[in-house]
Amino acid sequence: MDPYASARDELQKLVSSPTVGSGANEDTTRLQLIDALLFNCLGWNTQDATTEDHHNGSYVDYIVGKPAAQFIVEAKREGIPFTLPAGITGRHAVSVPTLMEDKSTAAAIHQVLGYCQERGVPVGIISNGHQLAAFFASRQDGVPPLKGEALVFSSLQEMYDDFNMLWGYLSKPAVSTKNLQRYLIGRKSRALAPEKLANSISHYPGFRKRSELETDLKMLGQLFIQDLEQEEQISDDFVKDCYCASGALSQYSMLSREVLRARYASAAAAVAGGIEKASTKKGVNPKLTADMVTAALSRRPIILLGDVGVGKSMFLRHLIRVDAKDVLKNSLILYVNFLREPVFVDDLPMYITERMSDQLESDHGIDVHDRSFVKAVYNKEINKFKRTIFGDESDPDEYKKQERLMLAGHLSKEFEHLRRSLEHIRATSGRSPLVILDNIDQRPPEFQESIFETAHSIADSWPGTVFVAIRPSTFFQSRSRGALAAYQTRMFTIEPARTDQVIMKRLDYARAKVVESGAAGVFPQNLSIDDADLVAYLNALIKAFKYDDELKSLIDNMSAGNTRDALMFLFTFIGSGYVSTQRVLDVANAGRVYTVPMHEFIRAIVFGDYDYFSPEASAVCNIFDITTNDGREHFLLPNILAHSQRVAESAGSEGLVSAASIYSFGQSVGFSQEQVGAQLDRAVKNNLLVFSGSVDGGSYRPTSVGSYLHRKLATSFSYVDAMIVDTPIVDPSVRRNIRDVHSIKERIQRAKHFQAYLDKQWEIFDPSRDEIPFRWDEVSAQLTTDIEAAEFKADAATQKRNESATNFWK
Ligand SMILES: Nc1ncnc2c1ncn2[C@@H]1O[C@H](COP(=O)(O)OP(=O)(O)OP(=O)(O)O)[C@@H](O)[C@H]1O
Ligand SMILES: [Mg+2]
Repeated sequence: MDPYASARDELQKLVSSPTVGSGANEDTTRLQLIDALLFNCLGWNTQDATTEDHHNGSYVDYIVGKPAAQFIVEAKREGIPFTLPAGITGRHAVSVPTLMEDKSTAAAIHQVLGYCQERGVPVGIISNGHQLAAFFASRQDGVPPLKGEALVFSSLQEMYDDFNMLWGYLSKPAVSTKNLQRYLIGRKSRALAPEKLANSISHYPGFRKRSELETDLKMLGQLFIQDLEQEEQISDDFVKDCYCASGALSQYSMLSREVLRARYASAAAAVAGGIEKASTKKGVNPKLTADMVTAALSRRPIILLGDVGVGKSMFLRHLIRVDAKDVLKNSLILYVNFLREPVFVDDLPMYITERMSDQLESDHGIDVHDRSFVKAVYNKEINKFKRTIFGDESDPDEYKKQERLMLAGHLSKEFEHLRRSLEHIRATSGRSPLVILDNIDQRPPEFQESIFETAHSIADSWPGTVFVAIRPSTFFQSRSRGALAAYQTRMFTIEPARTDQVIMKRLDYARAKVVESGAAGVFPQNLSIDDADLVAYLNALIKAFKYDDELKSLIDNMSAGNTRDALMFLFTFIGSGYVSTQRVLDVANAGRVYTVPMHEFIRAIVFGDYDYFSPEASAVCNIFDITTNDGREHFLLPNILAHSQRVAESAGSEGLVSAASIYSFGQSVGFSQEQVGAQLDRAVKNNLLVFSGSVDGGSYRPTSVGSYLHRKLATSFSYVDAMIVDTPIVDPSVRRNIRDVHSIKERIQRAKHFQAYLDKQWEIFDPSRDEIPFRWDEVSAQLTTDIEAAEFKADAATQKRNESATNFWK
């Protein structure tokens, strides 16, 4: 029977049960009835609810819904329970003021209202077991809850008669659709945040102008990220000179080492035989090299597991060309890159076959369709064919024709033909294939599963070794869907290399290239910058990345183990309109190396190519943005981040924080579940938290991006200054004074106003409670220092300008 029908049957039992409304202990009966309603008639499980006694035990609350509480049911335990006012029988929509005409009902409503508001739970329900009334208790649309509507059932019989309504609004399957909220409010639930300053700027977000010099420098930038652009053509030199061994944990991360380490702990536990690191500080893990040989015998693919952009492809490239060059002397490397080519899943074996056949020909000079090669491969078949009726030599032409047909039959099974060809090559020359299936993550899940299957069938029936590089999330999804469960695998994890080292190597590489062959040897066309200037510019960058720990920390934390992102940040600086490139060269001409100030780097990252901060385009998230007209919400996202980090860093958490913990924390400090949900969404979209599978309703892993934002960037004038256009300001008197300004002096004044506004909202937030982990007052104090420093520099610059102007007139 379906859940709806069986729930209704349960309700019928309640209606006709002789125990209802009688019995010596009314309190117990009442609670049993509420239990039965919730758990038997509305589809909730006991795990979905917690009960709490309060007000000296005279009230019992059922807090229902996990991870986010959906409603609280209030039941009065002792004394006279409330009774809904007479005269409303048969009506389901009753205004709360009408209900409150009854004194005991009013008391119960007040009770649950306070409780819902404290915890940010949207719906409050009062029930005496026979009757119930539900109303919206925590709303942000400006209507006081006590003036709103309630959904009322005056008897169990009514609940039974209109069961579709009861079920449609209060059952577990229905509650997530928020039908009840819509019924009670009749429109969208929250009062929206006021408009952002950005909405009033006509040319927002604008394009940042670049000088000719800066445009040319962008080309220099290409040199660092050449492997992102033209994967196929990168040189051995590049791989050799730019590769950094991974295996050392970051020194700059704002997350604890335990959290960084815990990343693969759950993966290791889930895989029989455990997981090894692909490389250590000393180089490639010898077990991996050994496995490349034995994997062929054990007939299972080797899986390289690593997060997005961590360096899986780079590791493989370096393995093949440098580390394992000797071991692989006798291998035929067949590398299938799924990054670019469009392929449909049905064509997959065909696609793999074509790519490999092409490579056999282009890289190894073996044409698998060559006539004599084919004859050699099918030598056994040919000999056997000679013994058939066609082989009696009576009709040589007919024999040849039939032999061709026989061979054509084999060739038409292309995948199998490739396998046979590789078997033949191994038998005759001792060379066995090393098949690499890389970058399959960019494909839809069913496609990836199909690649796994192909990988396994290749490993199982072909000579040689198969590598598959994938991200952990893909791996676990496939496992949980069963696609991988059947296979035994051998796994090696790829960990990020240190970002400061990766960047230093690229810069050194670029400088060596420029010194060795001059700009003309490196760039395709004439540039506005000469070789000496290029070297001077690189020197300034090298100096910054070598000595500036703050800069290293910025890149390291903001890239959170994604080496590609770290390189993209480097690329962003080079030729950015926010870095004073001309000054770099002027200082170099005076024989010194310019120190690029931190705020130029921050602005380059935050603004990218634009004049204004744009949340869609920027790599950086605005942690002050709000979704409702509630100024306390400016501190919600930083608090979610601080709370998550605290939980994840506590013992036994494995670096994880559950969704339930985040919701209940948010609600305990006074936010509605909608506010928490919206900010949690933003956290995930901006990589401040990473969703990590469905352990008990979902859990999250904090990232160093989130940590760096709320601890560090929030204290920086450059960051806060950029966020102002994107932050709704709930106080109209402040809003009027926050404008679109450009000069440094005006920006400093505006940042001070904005800071004062946040300080005021912080007071409203009731910061005296020590369960609030993100302390705006402390961050604000550091921000003050940074604003003062900016002001000092701005004043000094003005003074210098004035002096030189005065000198000019002298
Ligand atoms: N150990 C390393 N040393 C030097 N550069 C590296 C290293 N690891 C990664 N990189 C660089 O970082 C960028 C991203 O690396 P790569 O493409 O190998 O990541 P990936 O793990 O294959 O990513 P995806 O999951 O998207 O396939 C590349 O430009 C690469 O050259
Ligand atoms: Mg890759």
